[in-house]
Amino acid sequence: MTDHNVHAIPVIAIDGPSASGKGTVAQAIAHTLGFHYLDSGALYRIAGLAVVRAGGNLEIESDVLAILLKIKIKFNDSQVLLDGADVAEAIRAETISAAASKVGAHAQVRHALLQRQQNFRQPPGLVADGRDMGSVVFPDSVLKIYLTASAQARAERRYKQLIDKGFDANITALLQDIMLRDQRDSERAAAPLQKCPDAIEVDTTNLSVAQSIAQVLSYYRQIPGAGLGVGVD
Ligand code: C5P
Repeated sequence: MTDHNVHAIPVIAIDGPSASGKGTVAQAIAHTLGFHYLDSGALYRIAGLAVVRAGGNLEIESDVLAILLKIKIKFNDSQVLLDGADVAEAIRAETISAAASKVGAHAQVRHALLQRQQNFRQPPGLVADGRDMGSVVFPDSVLKIYLTASAQARAERRYKQLIDKGFDANITALLQDIMLRDQRDSERAAAPLQKCPDAIEVDTTNLSVAQSIAQVLSYYRQIPGAGLGVGVD
């Protein structure tokens, strides 16, 4: 496919802070429209997990890069494969959230993951979720959404998710983790979390999941030429 054609494939970029519901909303939109889905956070999580497992130092860029260049990453339906082993569960641990945020602070690590993310742009379209989808990875996205919610609401959602899965959780610790990750993600020099000037902010603090999805879909459908979607609505 030529570069020109690639730019004709629509991308919906959904960026925002941790636990804002980006993943749930982005997957539902992709499903409804029949688009591909990129969970860019999973890539940073795999990189973080690989460094932790290899005993590398998350703060040292060259350590992280060396490990990243050696590993094999593959997405297979619901499976996330690191060197052939499914790590879909392992990358969701809170310790790996923090590791992902640390590896994501390195500019060269971000650069090494750039093409891999752009390769997800395939017909008929892509919904990409992350922190810098609209600003760096897909700056020509047809729709840029900044999905956010108060830190308290996000901590409560994460708490409920963990309890529902049968894990122990502490709301105060979760709130602290979220605030720390927000700070690290927004203050880093390389591709910090920020609302692009051309992004539409959707604050989900007082919205249900269904309402958040409906709102983003309605923004997409207002775009001239945007299809109604081929998936299940
Ligand atoms: O979205 P998720 O919580 O899975 O992302 C985990 C971490 O990966 C984030 O806290 C962030 O530091 C990093 N990340 C990033 N850029 C992205 C996606 C995730 O730096 N596009």
